[in-house]
Amino acid sequence: MAQNTDTAKLTIKGETYDLPIHSPTNGPDVVDIRKLYAQANVFTYDPAFTSTAACDSTITFIDGDKGELLHRGYPIDQLASKSHYLEVCYLLLYGELPSAEELENFESLVTNHTMIHEQMHNFFRGFRRDAHPMATMVGVVGAMSAFYHDSTDISDPHQREVATIRLIAKMPTVAAMAYKYSIGQPFVYPRNDLDYAANFLHMCFAVPAQDYQVDPILSRAMDRIFTLHADHEQNASTSTVRLASSSGANPFACIAAGIACLWGPAHGGANQACLEMLKEIGTPDRIPEFIARAKDKNDSYRLMGFGHRVYKNFDPRATVMKESADEVLDLLGVENNPILQVAKELEKQALADPYFADKKLFPNVDFYSGIILEAMGFPTSMFTPIFALARTVGWISQWKEQLADPQLKIGRPRQLYLGETTRDYVDIEKR
Ligand code: SDX
Repeated sequence: MAQNTDTAKLTIKGETYDLPIHSPTNGPDVVDIRKLYAQANVFTYDPAFTSTAACDSTITFIDGDKGELLHRGYPIDQLASKSHYLEVCYLLLYGELPSAEELENFESLVTNHTMIHEQMHNFFRGFRRDAHPMATMVGVVGAMSAFYHDSTDISDPHQREVATIRLIAKMPTVAAMAYKYSIGQPFVYPRNDLDYAANFLHMCFAVPAQDYQVDPILSRAMDRIFTLHADHEQNASTSTVRLASSSGANPFACIAAGIACLWGPAHGGANQACLEMLKEIGTPDRIPEFIARAKDKNDSYRLMGFGHRVYKNFDPRATVMKESADEVLDLLGVENNPILQVAKELEKQALADPYFADKKLFPNVDFYSGIILEAMGFPTSMFTPIFALARTVGWISQWKEQLADPQLKIGRPRQLYLGETTRDYVDIEKR
C-alpha cells in the first residue's frame, strides 16, 4: 500500500473529515475514502468508476495524456519490438524479465500444457455450429473448472500456479477449437515443436488433408498482436475478473467472467465492430457521412476503434498496430488494401475534425487490429476471441496480485437508491 503523504479535508453539514491522501509511483494521488461511510454516513458516487481507484497494483501503468503504456515499467513499444509474448507473460506474472534459463523453463511449462482434457471436445459439439466463438469460449473456459479440480483451490499457491499455466497454455487451443468448430473443420491438436503464436496459427489453419507450414511473417505478427493486448490496468474485463475473484471463485470461473465482459462492443468486441464499420463505409468518399453520424448528438452511433476512457492521446498500441498493418499487408502482398485505405483516411479526417480533437478521441488498439487479422485469414468473429486469448495473462496476473493482497475483501459497491420508500402489500382485488 502506498504511504499516506497528505490529508484531504471534506466538510459535510458543518463537520470536517480528514481523508488520507496516498501518492503513487506514477499517476494521480488517491484520496482514501474507506472510512468515510463509517465516519460521515455518506457514500461517494461514481457509477462508471471514472474517478475511482479500485485497488493498488504494480503490474501496468497507462499515462493517458502522454499515450504511454508500461508493463512492470517497460514501454509497450519496446516490448512489442524487442520481446515476445511468452516473455511478456513472464514479466507480467512475476514482475521481472526472465533470465534465459527462467524463460526456457517457463516456455517449456506452457508448451507442455497446451492440450485440453479429451472429454472437453464434447462441450464444443453441444453448441450450434453458428454459435459465436466468444459464446463457445465463455462456456468451455468456465467448464474447465469441471475438469481441472486439482487447480481450483485458490488458497493453495501451488494450485494457483498450476491454474495460471493451464489457462495461458490452453487458451489458444480453446480459441482455435472454437474457430474450427464454427467452420465445420476437425480440431487440430497443438504441437510442441511450434512456438506459442505459430502453434495457434497451425491449430486454426491446418487441415488433416495436407501439411501446413506456418508463415514466419504471420507468426511474428500474431505474437506481436498478443503482446499488444496482454494487459491494460483495471479495464472493464479485468475489473470483472477481480470482482469475481474477490468472492473466492475459482480461476476458470473468474476468467470466463472476464471473457464475457470483454465481448461487449464498447470493450473487446470493438475490433470486430470496427472492421464491420470500415467495410460498411466501403470507400473513402463515404467517410464524411459516418463522421457526421458519430458527431450527431441525436444518433448513438460511434466510430468503433476510436476513443478511450484513459487515453486522451494516441493509444501507443494503435501506433504499433498501424505500423504492423503496413508491414504485414505489404509482406502478404495485399497491396493497397481498400479497407486499410479507408481506415487511414478515416483516421486522418476524424483527427482533423474539432469534435474528435476537442474530445481527445484517438484511434485505440481496436482500430487497426482487425485489418491485420482479416489479412491473416481470420473471420471477424475470431477477433475478440484472439483478444481474450492474449488478455488471459493480464487477467491472471491481476488475479494473482489481488489474491496476494492482505487488504483483500469481497467487492461490494453501494448505491444511490431512488426507488420507493416502504409501502404495504396491496391484495390483487384492491389494485
Ligand atoms: C478497449 O479500458 C480499457 O483499457 C479498454 C481496452 C483494453 O485494452 O482493455 O483499451 C480495450 O476496450 C478499447 C476501447 C474499444 N471501444 C471502442 O472503440 C468503442 C468506441 N469507443 C467508445 O464507445 C468510447 O470511446 C469508449 C467506450 C471506449 C470510452 O467511453 P467513455 O470513456 O465512457 O467516454 P464517453 O462515452 O463519456 O465519451 C466522451 C465523449 C462523449 O460525448 P459527450 O457526451 O461528451 O458529448 O466522447 C464521445 C461521447 O459521445 N465519444 C465518441 C466516441 N467515443 C466517445 N463519439 C464518437 N465516436 C466515438 N468512438
